[in-house]
Parts: sequence; structure tokens; C-alpha cells
Amino acid sequence: MFRTAERTAHGVRLIDQRKLPLEETYVELRSPEQVAQAIRDMVVRGAPAIGITAAFGLALGAKQTAAAQPQRFSEEMERILAHMESARPTAVNLAWAVRRMRDVMTERLANGGDPDDAVAALEREAQAIHDEDLAACKAMGAHGAALVPEQATVLTHCNAGGLATAGYGTALGVIRGAVEAGKRVRVLADETRPFLQGARLTAWELLADGIDTTLITDGMAGSLMRRGEIDLVVVGSDRIAANGDIANKIGTYTVAVLAKENGIPFYVAAPMSTIDFDCPDGDSIPIEERDPSEVTELFGTRVAPDGVGVRNPAFDITPARYVHAIVTERGVARPPYVTSLAAMRER
Ligand code: MRU
Repeated sequence: MFRTAERTAHGVRLIDQRKLPLEETYVELRSPEQVAQAIRDMVVRGAPAIGITAAFGLALGAKQTAAAQPQRFSEEMERILAHMESARPTAVNLAWAVRRMRDVMTERLANGGDPDDAVAALEREAQAIHDEDLAACKAMGAHGAALVPEQATVLTHCNAGGLATAGYGTALGVIRGAVEAGKRVRVLADETRPFLQGARLTAWELLADGIDTTLITDGMAGSLMRRGEIDLVVVGSDRIAANGDIANKIGTYTVAVLAKENGIPFYVAAPMSTIDFDCPDGDSIPIEERDPSEVTELFGTRVAPDGVGVRNPAFDITPARYVHAIVTERGVARPPYVTSLAAMRER
């Protein structure tokens, strides 16, 4: 069984998701700057996993700062917090985790705690962020399993699995929950160009669990829906606006529109930490644009002609009207999401 991210005595250890499934290797990062760079380079990816990794990186940064420059602890930590938060813009779990860590640090220092005291609290907080996410994924699995028929073919896009979380997954958590409930589930995994999270990561982790998984290219989903070969769609999210619009991996919107056209339910599974109540709708969610080489090259080999224009938005927005339900650790929210998500927040 793999560990997505963990704090070690001297660093942060990540399974290297760029190398999977051909190589199962781990990297150990020794500074918060290295952790931020690993998030940017997608050594680790997936909204909850990014937040967890950032929290571990901040705990590491706090420990190193308390040892090297205890008099400048707060100023240096502010720099590290801001740098970590800037690693990737779309997944709100990153800003959410940074805010949690900043709040703990501020509270400790304001109450007369010294840097060592703050370090101990930050280490505990980072581990709590990790452990709470695992529990949230298991709860999403239990709630979401009820949405899956006794026998079903489920389409998923990108990787919202154990690799994208502390373990178990959000969308793949729903699939795992259904399988554990004794349902006969077959998964269709979109390959998910350009980073191939579906082909490389979703296929790898579902097969490791013995779940029946079939890989398709992104362009095949609509045709299979029209032929009646898909019963439901479940995906994760990087940020959910207060009105239920969702940001997720580029291509999700296409899947959602095709699902509606073909009368197929489209579900989103995400923890409460992915809901951004400060974002009124999808148009206010920042969309990351990544390097053109991810599109023009395949594994370092150029496949497009020099001089061609390239677009590489990493995420898209699926308006709430395409979303049948949002599964969180607190239950299943239904439209209208402005009220159902707000009510879930109060629970
Ligand atoms: O660019 P990535 O791989 O970080 O994008 C990941 C996704 O879009 C996931 O679907 C999302 O973060 C949810 S992960 C539980």
C-alpha cells in the first residue's frame, strides 16, 4: 500500500506521481521550498493531497526556522507561508491548509508561546489535516455508495483517488465504498490529457485494489454514453463555489455536458475543505495555465510542430446545473446548492 505524503524526521516524503505506474519511487524533500516546488511540478497533485503536503512542508519549515533563526521566526514563517500558498492557484485546499497553519501559529505566538511551542502545535496540526482527510474520504465513500446502483459502469475523469488525498480518495472513495458495500462496479477511466492522471494513476490504484477498470481516451466517453455503456459519472473537484459550480481537471465540463445530453447522473465528491464559500460562482475561481510543453510533448518527445500556438488551462468550470449531487463527508447535497451547501457548513 502506498503513502501519498508523510512527514519524516527530517523532511516530507512523497510518492513520485510523475513516475507512476512504471516506477514506484519516493522522494524526500528537505525544505519548504522543495515541497512548494514538488507541488508545482506535480510530484504530488490532487486538491486534498496538495493541502496535506503543504501543511507537512510548513511544519518542516517551522522546525528549521525555530532552530536557525528563532528571533525572526514570525517574519520568516510569513515568507514561507506565502511562498507555499503560491505553488498552485486552483485547488483551494492549498490556501485552506495554509490558513489553518497560519492561524495555529498566530494563536500560539499571541498566547506567549515561543517558536518551539509553535513548532509542536504546527506538527500536530499538519498531522490532523492528514488524518481528517482520510476520515473524510471514508465518510464520502459511505455516503456516496448509496448513489451507485447494485450493478453499474462508472466513468471517472482525472485521479480523485488515494493518490490525490491522504488515502482512499473522493470520487474513487465513492467507487471503493460501493465495492465494499458488495455492489458490482466496473470503472471506465478517462486517460485525462495531458498529464494522464487517469491512464497512469487511476488505473494503477484501482487495479491494485482488484477493481475492474477499463481505460478509454478522453474523446471516447460521449460515444460510450450514447451507446448506453455508462450508468453514472463521479469526479472530484479542486474548488467548489458557494453556488455549486465546480472546478476540476480540464475535460470535466465536456463530460458533464455529455452526461446531461445522455440522461446520465453526474456526481461530484469532495471534502468540505474544497468548498470555497468566499467564491460566489465558478467565474471567480482562478484557473491555472500550465507550461505549453505539457501539450506539445509526450514524455519529453516533441509531437507538435515548432511555432504552433498552444493553450494549456489545467482546469475547467462545470456549472452547478450539470451536477446531480455533491458528496461530502457530511452527506449528500442536492440542488439548489446555495442553500444545501450552506446548510451542510452549519452541520
Ligand atoms: O492537476 P491535478 O492532477 O492536481 O488535478 C487534480 C484534479 O483535478 C482532481 O480531480 C481534484 O484535485 C480532486 S482530487 C480528490
